[in-house]
Amino acid sequence: MDAKSLIEVENLSKVYGEGDAAVEALKGISMNIEQSDFVAIMGPSGSGKSTLMHLIGCLDQATSGHYGLAGRSVETLDDDELADIRSHEIGFVFQQFNLLPRTSSLENVMLPLTYLRGPSTDGRKHAAELLRSVGLEHRIKNWPNELSGGEQQRVAIARSLINDPSIILADEPTGALDSKAGDEVMAIFKRLNEEGRTIVIITHERYIAEYSSRIIYLKDGRIETDERH
Ligand SMILES: Nc1ncnc2c1ncn2[C@@H]1O[C@H](COP(=O)(O)OP(=O)(O)OP(=O)(O)O)[C@@H](O)[C@H]1O
Ligand SMILES: [Mg+2]
Repeated sequence: MDAKSLIEVENLSKVYGEGDAAVEALKGISMNIEQSDFVAIMGPSGSGKSTLMHLIGCLDQATSGHYGLAGRSVETLDDDELADIRSHEIGFVFQQFNLLPRTSSLENVMLPLTYLRGPSTDGRKHAAELLRSVGLEHRIKNWPNELSGGEQQRVAIARSLINDPSIILADEPTGALDSKAGDEVMAIFKRLNEEGRTIVIITHERYIAEYSSRIIYLKDGRIETDERH
């Protein structure tokens, strides 16, 4: 990687739909994110935050522009290579947790392993360790509907870590939580960042963004401000 940034975005645009129905969600975004940075993306509803995160997470491809991830040009990668990056390099956390119902915390955390190489004793141990690291060692066997929102989100964070990703992307991870549970979740992201992981979160709330070291503010598909604090 040398002098290159972990994430390099140059004049990225994203258009959904075609013709009269076309929506230009991103209109030429340029920015770099260094390894171990902690970035918050803010901006009004519809400004393009989730769209940008989907592109960064290789969940979707840009319409034009360049996206470099760890020195690789994402626009040149095929579906298998993109899936490989998603499962090994990136951990995803969403507002609604996206846990499987009627499935224990432990099994939810192991889910990304199951797809890759089948469950193993090591995988079980690792998942249990991750649940302990987010303060849920006493909730390993519970189903999601037996957990509070904050606990469910901590299971989701543990799941995002099972393949040891270098980047964590979180789209409004505290949006469905009260401020106390939100603070607990953010304390975990802060620790993960201090351990060297690169964190990008979307939030509508200033006090949540204050946990980051840099706030990028989007407006109408463009970067309005990009400041360290
Ligand atoms: N799959 C899609 N098809 C068509 N238009 C879309 C699609 N996804 C998003 N858009 C449009 O792109 C624009 C940006 O959407 P995006 O979801 O990125 O906004 P956002 O900043 O995340 O908003 P919010 O804060 O409400 O989550 C919006 O006008 C939205 O309607
Ligand atoms: Mg969004």
